[in-house]
Amino acid sequence: MRTQVAIIGGGPAGLLLSQLLHKAGVASVVLERRSREYVLSRIRAGVLETGLVNLMHEAGIAERMDREGFIHDGTLIANGNDQFRIDFKELTGSHVMVYGQTEVTRDLYEARDAAGATVMHECSGVKPHDLTTDAPYVTFFHEGAVHRLDCDFIAGCDGFHGPCRQEIPLSVRREFEKVYPFGWLGVLSETPPVDNELIYSNSERGFALCSMRNANLSRYYIQCQLSDTPDDWTDDAFWDELRRRIPEEAADRLVTGPSIEKSIAPLRSFVCEPMQWGRMFLCGDAAHIVPPTGAKGLNTAASDVNYLWRALVAWYNDGERGGIDTYSETALARIWKAERFSWWMTTLLHRLPEQSEFDIRMQDADIAYLQHSTAAQTAMAENYVGLPY
Ligand code: PHB
Repeated sequence: MRTQVAIIGGGPAGLLLSQLLHKAGVASVVLERRSREYVLSRIRAGVLETGLVNLMHEAGIAERMDREGFIHDGTLIANGNDQFRIDFKELTGSHVMVYGQTEVTRDLYEARDAAGATVMHECSGVKPHDLTTDAPYVTFFHEGAVHRLDCDFIAGCDGFHGPCRQEIPLSVRREFEKVYPFGWLGVLSETPPVDNELIYSNSERGFALCSMRNANLSRYYIQCQLSDTPDDWTDDAFWDELRRRIPEEAADRLVTGPSIEKSIAPLRSFVCEPMQWGRMFLCGDAAHIVPPTGAKGLNTAASDVNYLWRALVAWYNDGERGGIDTYSETALARIWKAERFSWWMTTLLHRLPEQSEFDIRMQDADIAYLQHSTAAQTAMAENYVGLPY
């Protein structure tokens, strides 16, 4: 087989890249390790920056999002019973879109199917070759046979555990990591959200987040121990704990019900430098991870796809190689800012095991400054809605 761009990974980053390239007349093949059902069963965050919303319009997959997504002009921050609002619209003129990552992925699959794209599922042993030559290729197993896919470029959209990042020699690769000593327990329930905006809450008992998917589908999270398992938490125990961690007036309004999904995610910050090696480019979780506070996971993947897609199209259409050569540098400049923001939001709002009374006062002061300073609110809002590409 031969294509122009071999895309390893059929999550939202790989599919979005493939769809954007297709719109610009560039061919690609997507290789995914899992089944489509598996990819679509993963529940992820649901807050899209304007940059991603714009990319979805360019990719021609925005119709359902425009119809079913919710524009949020602000968010609520709570510290104990004290609560205030950050008004994105007033501070930045922009907003975010609440629309689940799973729905973005579903819309992308539909668009790729409609265009007759090659998206191969359940590919194993995927390995990129000859990355520093003009003729890279990928080998893999699919339905019992060995395949070879020749290409001009390889996009590594294969997630944190994927094979692509490992192809960057250790002599040039640097990895930066911070592991947080707690996790997030998330619950999805068919109940009306407690508020029409998200509530990020710091409390004595730890962090809580009230989010949503639609008028009758809520997504809630509480900070938990890394050693906890979802089975340790009955629905009742989860709701009781959530109620104790959000302002009383919100707790009084909270509508509870059976959970339809319950899972625990660890929190990690991670960046790999560089994000390219020869003719291979990393996008999304393959190169970087953010803790979910601030919902930057999918958004940072989209920002990589934005730079890579434009660079590849400039190469194919105008023979211009500047964007290709500087991809890593350009992508990383924005990634590090999103890393900083996610780390700051996480540090601001969680209780840490080793936290001293002084550390807690620092958090209180940081939150109070945010509450009362327009400059601090503008900085938060500007990062939350997404820095420009
Ligand atoms: C979510 O709705 O799943 C969500 C929203 C905001 C976050 C993280 C997760 O910061």
